[in-house]
Amino acid sequence: MARFYVTTPIYYVNDAPHIGHAYPTVTADALARWHRLLGDETWFLTGTDEHGLKVAQSAEAAGRTPQEQADVNAARFKEAWAALDITFDDFIRTTEPRHHLATRALLQKAYDNGFIELDSYEGPYCIACEAYYTESELIDGTLCPIHRRPVEWFKEQNYFFRLSRFSDRIVDWLTSAPDVVMPEAKRNEVLGFIRGGLEDVSITRTSLRWGVAVPWAPEHVFYVWYDALINYATAIGYGVDDDRFRAWWPAVHHIIGKDILRFHCVYWPALLMAAGEDPPAHVHVHGFLLVRGEKMSKTALNGIAPADLVADFGVDGFRYHFLRDQQFGPDGDFSYEQMVARYNADLANNFGNLASRVASVVATKCEGIGPAPDPASPLAALAAAAVADAAAAWQRVAPSEALDATWKLIRDANAHLEAHEPWKADPGPGVDKVLGDALEVLRIVAVLASPAIPRATTRLWQRLGMPGAPEDVRVPDGLAWGGYPGGIPVQKGEPLFPRLAS
Ligand code: MSP
Repeated sequence: MARFYVTTPIYYVNDAPHIGHAYPTVTADALARWHRLLGDETWFLTGTDEHGLKVAQSAEAAGRTPQEQADVNAARFKEAWAALDITFDDFIRTTEPRHHLATRALLQKAYDNGFIELDSYEGPYCIACEAYYTESELIDGTLCPIHRRPVEWFKEQNYFFRLSRFSDRIVDWLTSAPDVVMPEAKRNEVLGFIRGGLEDVSITRTSLRWGVAVPWAPEHVFYVWYDALINYATAIGYGVDDDRFRAWWPAVHHIIGKDILRFHCVYWPALLMAAGEDPPAHVHVHGFLLVRGEKMSKTALNGIAPADLVADFGVDGFRYHFLRDQQFGPDGDFSYEQMVARYNADLANNFGNLASRVASVVATKCEGIGPAPDPASPLAALAAAAVADAAAAWQRVAPSEALDATWKLIRDANAHLEAHEPWKADPGPGVDKVLGDALEVLRIVAVLASPAIPRATTRLWQRLGMPGAPEDVRVPDGLAWGGYPGGIPVQKGEPLFPRLAS
């Protein structure tokens, strides 16, 4: 059986979740749901990044200990994900003992292999990024290129990771297959960065206690990124369950934002290599959600809480927007008006109308009993194409295209109904065929759209009279034309997506 291991970044617990965090999480959730439909053994990991200066400082500002701050905010992330129907298999917190254990084990290996050594370093440091920059990278020589805030000058005697020794091996990894880092432009960006020359990096601190203690020098803690990245290994048993770790690693799919590209595509693979492990198989990089052209963040004061949008659009409306309207890869502008327009067009009109129209005509023309589809229906080939196109798009992590292919089938079915107008015809075999075909399309759509809009598709499934849930169907075999049996009652019910005022 195929395995599918998907991860989100782990989120800093300095503050509450905003929709910039929800975006990668919903994407990973939809991918996990799709792979479960394929019958893959799936492991979906998310969690929180709880160490480091940024969290320690935010705790102080809030009058809490770092652990209290982490507890409060980790709970808020969990709550937000529950409210978005996120089906993670594991939620890792980097303050957990299992993570301290795995971090120490992996970095001890790198140390034993001679890739970590004591040295001294100074340079400009951005606390919000938890990263050193070179002076040439700063805006006007003083500001962080991401946060546009002044950097601090740090000087430390630290343990250094000999990153410079890994340049060739990272390039080999990046060029070993076309789908290691996607999109390709991001892979090229990493290659360019490596060609500029890799410097050794400081990976420990003595100025801070809030972190994982260095096993061979306990007065140091690991710098937050070097414990954070290891979460992906911790969660599948690194250091405690070797069989489990080998079963899942390295065939991982990391979902990350473009701001953490270097950490995932340079430092992380190098660290794994230093510890004698393989680098990750796939890194999928997305752009930023922008609000009026600015990256959404708390510091930019434009962070929008997922719950605010769920109140207006429902869980499925929220999920659908971010999967369909925000193309995975480039930056995308978030706009409330655009979200309303997409909701009304795709969910209330196309999808909702097909469902309610078919159910009402079945009620008036077929006494509420759904007829079977026509094996020779012209919709059969269109449905097969939609399944194939959606599958290919999910496979290349293009949810927006997968949903577009799914909605094309919905539009085809609506057009088929318009062409035959069964609501005007007398009951009989002609009407039965058209409605049976439309019911079969609804069954197929309920499965194809379930990774994005799980609540509405489950409700639709029940109204169609199908047993179980869309998630029980195995794709693609279970979507072969003719799966709707006919002869079962169809319920009308309330609109699946009530229209919103625009
Ligand atoms: N803790 C690190 C990640 C460690 S992973 C081993 C971190 N945390 S974060 O909370 O600041 O950001 C997590 C992810 O959220 C990043 O991938 C980032 O790109 C994403 N987003 C945060 N704001 C965003 C937008 N406005 N738009 C899209 N994604 C953005 O970095």
